Amino acid sequence: MSVKFTAVEIISAKRDKQELSDDQIDWTIEAYTKGIIADEQMSALLMAILLNGMNNREIFRWTDAMITSGEKMNWSMLDRPTVDKHSTGGVGDKITLPLAPLVAACGAAVPQLSGRGLGHTGGTLDKLESIKGWKASISNQEMLKVIQECGAVICAAGSGLAPADKKLYALRDVTGTVQAIPLIASSIMSKKIAEGTQALILDVKTGSGAFMSDPKDAGLLARTMVDLGKRAGVETRALVTAMDVPLGLTVGNSLEIRETIEVLSGGGPSDVVELTLILANEMLDAAKVKPKVDPATALKNGAAMDVWRRMIKAQGGDLSAPLPIAREKFEVKAATSGKLLTLDALKVGVSAWRLGAGRQKQGDTLQLGAGIEIHAKPGDLVKEGQSILTLHSDETSRFDRANEALSEAFTIGLENQKINRLPLIIERIEG
Ligand code: URA
Repeated sequence: MSVKFTAVEIISAKRDKQELSDDQIDWTIEAYTKGIIADEQMSALLMAILLNGMNNREIFRWTDAMITSGEKMNWSMLDRPTVDKHSTGGVGDKITLPLAPLVAACGAAVPQLSGRGLGHTGGTLDKLESIKGWKASISNQEMLKVIQECGAVICAAGSGLAPADKKLYALRDVTGTVQAIPLIASSIMSKKIAEGTQALILDVKTGSGAFMSDPKDAGLLARTMVDLGKRAGVETRALVTAMDVPLGLTVGNSLEIRETIEVLSGGGPSDVVELTLILANEMLDAAKVKPKVDPATALKNGAAMDVWRRMIKAQGGDLSAPLPIAREKFEVKAATSGKLLTLDALKVGVSAWRLGAGRQKQGDTLQLGAGIEIHAKPGDLVKEGQSILTLHSDETSRFDRANEALSEAFTIGLENQKINRLPLIIERIEG
């Protein structure tokens, strides 16, 4: 590639709060992907972007350059419209698992490229790997076959998709530069646009357990991503949703698969069912699919469960094999009777992580049965001595650190006290 610029002049420009030109951005992404810009130079540039920001033109160009760094998938051979959903990550957020088969059962095609756990937040692929034999990495040909046969596929993004993001993401993770709106928006949208979906629903989490804890920042991130999708011709909408309290009653890989199966069997926790149905209706509407059967019925009558079974089997998963169960348990009990007022998503997420549900560093092996069962949510009445949380781990030695993370994770007040929590849906943004 041509030596148009030097990394130092680009870093200095952003350090001095200047706008980067289209040419500078294209060169930077290509040079970094090819190893011409070194990690230490890109680290400095990422920190300058985090501190000094980017305007919309710069974000659009940065995203386009990341898309151009790899292949673009194409689903035009399918006989139905494609739609995907992406969550920015949370605690107990297993929504993708019942949602993808549900939307497929209602008539859309769902090509869902998912990720692994990051920090205290869980990853869809890690959860699915607690099913014996299930394979996350499949070729583009296999992906097409699964979606043609089942209507939905959940798998890892291949190495050819937005390779610039793979390098940038790993670097951001270890340089304290994850939490920058231009970098999060371009990272997510480059992958989703390259994935080739026609419509996209973004679930932007906010609250203690989300990367964007302030709802205003989450709204700005959501608008930036909706604009990026619109520019690329993808019908994109975003919901800003609550992540101040964990979603559902389980946090941890196999525990969340168990809860997913409950939801697909027509039961499960009300918040998981409600958010799954809201997102399913948004996805079908964005894809302009008039469902033959409405999503609530497809959850109750087994149609979504049928797609789930076929989809898991197509990737080698054996649903008749028992799910991993952790060897040890520890009960966290209520010190007094009253109303549960709060349950902090971040503290529960960090505790589950320390129990072995998440990685401390890249490549760590997970304890697939580790995690937390939640027995009471804010608003519930509890009795002194009642178990509020059950901690699961293969090693009792992990319970002390997991318990430390739970200090003040929940509060119990008087029965007549009001609870103060975020509404499930905070904002809806349409392009
Ligand atoms: N998920 C991504 O894919 N990228 C980010 O930057 C944050 C969450």
